[in-house]
Amino acid sequence: MAGASTTQGTSKSLDPKELYAALAKELDAARQSKTYKLEVPIDSEQAGRVMAAGRSCVMLASNNYLGLANHPRIKAAAYKGLENYGYGMASVRFICGTQKIHMELEEKIAGFLGVEAAILHSSCFAANEAFFTGLMSSDLGQSEYRDIIYSDQLNHASIIDGIRLVRQATKTTDLKAYKHNDLDELKSSLAANQSKNYRISVAATDGVFSMEGEYCDLKKFLSICKEFSALSFVDDSHSTGVLGKTGRGTPEQCGVHGQVDVITGTLGKALGGASGGFIAGKKELIEFLRQKSRPYTFSNTVPAAIVAASIEAINMLEESNELVEKLHDNTDYFRKEIKNLGFTILEGVHPIVPVMVGEAATAMDMSSELLKEGVYVRGLWYPVVPKGEARLRCQISAALEKEDIDHALAAFQKVGKKLGVL
Ligand SMILES: Cc1ncc(COP(=O)(O)O)c(C=O)c1O
Repeated sequence: MAGASTTQGTSKSLDPKELYAALAKELDAARQSKTYKLEVPIDSEQAGRVMAAGRSCVMLASNNYLGLANHPRIKAAAYKGLENYGYGMASVRFICGTQKIHMELEEKIAGFLGVEAAILHSSCFAANEAFFTGLMSSDLGQSEYRDIIYSDQLNHASIIDGIRLVRQATKTTDLKAYKHNDLDELKSSLAANQSKNYRISVAATDGVFSMEGEYCDLKKFLSICKEFSALSFVDDSHSTGVLGKTGRGTPEQCGVHGQVDVITGTLGKALGGASGGFIAGKKELIEFLRQKSRPYTFSNTVPAAIVAASIEAINMLEESNELVEKLHDNTDYFRKEIKNLGFTILEGVHPIVPVMVGEAATAMDMSSELLKEGVYVRGLWYPVVPKGEARLRCQISAALEKEDIDHALAAFQKVGKKLGVL
């Protein structure tokens, strides 16, 4: 068996010393292959400018799309939440971990997304794991059945892990991964399986794909789902508060607000940037998941400070489009000007702007040179993205002022010339 060590047919456990040596060897290999993830400590709040590597840097690497991570209204709401409701509840939701504001936030999320109900989880990662297993682990009164999930090949790791978990746990769930954003392949797979009488079919996609900043054409996606009675599932973590005129995400961008069956999302990006996630959809589904989701049932409630601040984030979005418009204007400006400098980007409308530099070494060198010039941006390279398509993933924010963006553009020009990218 691959990976198993055997001596005369008997498998031998690594003793802890051997295990740690094996781990150290793996880490060395990651360093050698330049896939070891280095953490640069930030010595300030998350903001348009942060203190990193001893200098003030324009932040182009965070998901703080609306600049709420240190916004005075969000901080005030978090303090108030702390004052009024305390630090933690020391409980899961169904024991004694539900406060009025948890229910208020769930209603607010559902209202904002135009669906009936929502359920909080400790993260969107947990929410995505919860959804598939929560839904598909029950027989729903049927003795014989199979379910199937159609999943975009570039879906987020949490969707992939959620699918792995449900398939392992139930043994009655099939998977069809379709080529990235190839909705015609999704349609033909659904058509080909029509005669198989699956009990539940779910089609799952990211609203916005985080390596590319491109979005799924949800109008087409939903019409295919409808045609084949598949439940539509969209993880809109990178889009809630970001895309659409009012920040209601990819469904709004695609003109199908309120029509997706299941939307998952995070409180850890545009909606304040702390942590927490949710599943939103029809009330029967959400009520069912409240009973069946293991990450909900067996994990602590979201702390009041975060809940109160998340309510305030949605209030701010409902009151005015100002931040969303600033985000869109900043994004348009950066996209236009970085191209004018001669860089190649992946086209789109999202504040994730991948600047393509080719080889991994170039991306690594550029990000460390840019840091010296006061620009914090991370490179992505194989195996995270295809070979030869290394990139600097710039993420634009409403927290940036024009002079911050101009500083970043000037640094890109200087470093690009120095390293021969321009
Ligand atoms: C598409 C997508 N889904 C889920 C997550 C996980 O969100 P959370 O940080 O709330 O677990 C992320 C975060 O990177 C994401 O990009």
